[in-house]
Amino acid sequence: MRPYKQLGDVPRKRHMRFADDGRLAYEELFGREGFSGPSSLLYHRGMPEGAQDVSEGPADLMTPEHEQVHTNAHLKGFDLPSQGDVITGRRWLLVNDDVHIGLVAPVSAQQVLYVNGSADEVLFVHAGSGALHSQFGHLAFKRHDYIVIPRGTIYRIDFDDLADVRLLCIEVTGLVDVPDRYRARNGQLTEFAPFSERDFHGPDSLEAGNAGPAEIWLKRSNHVSRYVLDHHPFDVIGWDGTIYPVTFNIHDFEPRAGRFHVPPPIHQTFQAHNLVICSFVPRKLDWDPEAIHLPYHHSNLDSDEVLYYVEGNYAARRGISQGSFTHHVGGLPHGPQPGALEASLDRPRETDELAVMVDTFRPLHRTAIARQIFDRDYPFSWHTGGVSGTTSIA
Ligand SMILES: [Fe+2]
Repeated sequence: MRPYKQLGDVPRKRHMRFADDGRLAYEELFGREGFSGPSSLLYHRGMPEGAQDVSEGPADLMTPEHEQVHTNAHLKGFDLPSQGDVITGRRWLLVNDDVHIGLVAPVSAQQVLYVNGSADEVLFVHAGSGALHSQFGHLAFKRHDYIVIPRGTIYRIDFDDLADVRLLCIEVTGLVDVPDRYRARNGQLTEFAPFSERDFHGPDSLEAGNAGPAEIWLKRSNHVSRYVLDHHPFDVIGWDGTIYPVTFNIHDFEPRAGRFHVPPPIHQTFQAHNLVICSFVPRKLDWDPEAIHLPYHHSNLDSDEVLYYVEGNYAARRGISQGSFTHHVGGLPHGPQPGALEASLDRPRETDELAVMVDTFRPLHRTAIARQIFDRDYPFSWHTGGVSGTTSIA
């Protein structure tokens, strides 16, 4: 996903003396898989680990609950109230040990620098624009961008305007990258990939004017610690490498379609351990005159499937609107609801749907917050003859 990049000044070779204004710089390896994986090298004016105070930080508000009854679900994301800032306002809905999926609709600006020490973050900007500031520099983002933030990135997000900002938040325990099958032997994206390196955007300039102590909240394993560092972490003279935050706009995903319906793996955008992230974008559909241009009923035997609906008309799903999640659990079939097939026959063979899908290979659990926005009719929406049944589960 990230080609080699350099911003600012770096020495001629790694691990050699390097001075800025006559003072030696501090070299920091920002590395995955110990010293053996992809990495970047950053050069700081101040010692990056210098801290003058460490204490317990604010609680990460998340209450995972394990279901007694597993059922397909519709969560009404727009029913969650706006609150907090882009960090404190996050509300986790669907979680397991590999991924946390939630929403944030902030009402205030981020006050304290934040770093996730346990997960890569994929933030999908449903609405809003602004910039992510980090030790890697300034990275602008806009509506419908994915912002992919490697763990360890110390950041502050500033929005151009806080009105109606909404982000889908995906915390991923494994390394988030593009699918291996899109890459050539040397790592370059192939002609068969639905995007190219040109579609990923890294920081464009280093942050300037940051000096003195700085407070940081470090999230590690669901607990937040408060650090006061001696030196501002954005005191970077230069860096180079392949680990840094990037943006990718979902409209730069080039959709694939076929004469008959093609399955969701053609929409895959990112991979990580035990999950995939896919982008459903406007496209032509299934143009054979006898083709059914709706998804077929399917049992995903090895995964839970989460779809987050961003925009457009979702012909196969009744009652779904912007900001909705559907959660289809492994082991149960799902597909178009009664009447959808008949209604589709005269429709144009194209879709304007825009959605993000997360398929997880281990079961997801809904949080107490998810239960507050649960649509109790959805599990029975395939019942022929109309909505029926009662459920005490959420
Ligand atoms: Fe599905």
